[in-house]
Amino acid sequence: MTTTTSTDVTHEATSLPITFDAVGMSFRRPDDRLQVLEDCSFEVPSGEFVSVVGPSGCGKTTLLNMAAGFLRPTSGRVRVGTDVVEGPHPSRGVVFQQYAVFPWLTVARNIEFGLTLRANRRSRADRAAIVDHYVEVMGLRGFESAYPKELSGGMRQRVAIARAYATNPRVLLMDEPFAALDAQTRTFMQELLHGTQQRERRTVLFITHSVEEAIFLSNRVVVMGARPAGVREVVDVDIAFPRDAETRLTNDFIDLRRHLEHVLHQPTPSSNQSESSHDTRRNP
Ligand SMILES: Nc1ncnc2c1ncn2[C@@H]1O[C@H](COP(=O)(O)OP(=O)(O)O)[C@@H](O)[C@H]1O
Ligand SMILES: [Mg+2]
Repeated sequence: MTTTTSTDVTHEATSLPITFDAVGMSFRRPDDRLQVLEDCSFEVPSGEFVSVVGPSGCGKTTLLNMAAGFLRPTSGRVRVGTDVVEGPHPSRGVVFQQYAVFPWLTVARNIEFGLTLRANRRSRADRAAIVDHYVEVMGLRGFESAYPKELSGGMRQRVAIARAYATNPRVLLMDEPFAALDAQTRTFMQELLHGTQQRERRTVLFITHSVEEAIFLSNRVVVMGARPAGVREVVDVDIAFPRDAETRLTNDFIDLRRHLEHVLHQPTPSSNQSESSHDTRRNP
C-alpha cells in the first residue's frame, strides 16, 4: 500500500559531506592524558557510504561522537558541509550499537518520534506517509503496533535505522549497528541497508570492525591503526553497485578483503600497547 504523498517522503535528501580535518583527541585522566586519535583526516563525500574499520579501542566511537557533536576534538575540526560541528543537531541521525529504541512506544511511534520534535516537525499526513514508507523499506509491515520487547534484536535495530532515516537527516552516523546480531541476521541487515542506500543515497559514516561488512556496504573504507590511532589507509571500493551475496565471492572482493585485513593487522611500529591495558606508555 502506497500513499499519494510517498514521492514527498522519498525525495532526495539534501545530503552534505562530512570532513575530518587533522582531528586529534586526548582524554584527561587522573594523572595524565590518553591520546586516542592523532591527525585523522578523511572525507565522507555527499551521498556516499564510508566505513571506518579499526581495532577495538582505537577511537572509532570517539570519531563518530565528534561528528555527532557529542564530543569536541582537542585538535583539528569536523565539518558537515561548510559548518564546523560544535554540538548535537537534529540534522544528523545517529544509530548506536545498542538498540536505542523507546520501549514504551510502538514501532510506528518510534519511527515517527523525530518527526514530532520541533526541529523536524512534519504534518500528520506527512508523518503517516513517512512512517509507512520506512515500515515497508525496513520490512516491518505487520509490526507497526508492536512494542520493542515483542521484536527480535534485528527488528529492533531496523526500527532504530528507520527512525534515523525518517527525519531526512543531512548525514547518518552508525556505530557498529549490527555488532550484537548473529551472523545470519547480520548478513540480512547488511543487504537491507545496502538496498536502502542504493535507493536513497544518504551521506553515511558507518563504524564496524568487520572488513567484510565495510567492503560490502561502502564506496570507501578508512582503516585506522591502534591507539593513538591515525588513518592508515583510505581505499575506494571499486566494485559495482548494487551488490549481493555473489559479490562477496568475487576475486575483486576477496583481494580487497585480504589487503584490508593485512593493513588492519600490521603492527604499529612506534608503540607497544595492548587493548586490555590503558597504560599506553608501558614498555618491557
Ligand atoms: N570519555 C572518555 N574518557 C576517557 N577515556 C575515554 C573516553 N571515551 C573513550 N575513552 C577511551 O578512548 C579509547 C577509544 O575509545 P572508543 O572510541 O570507544 O574506541 P572504539 O570505538 O574504537 O572501540 C579507549 O581506550 C577508551 O577507553
Ligand atoms: Mg566503539
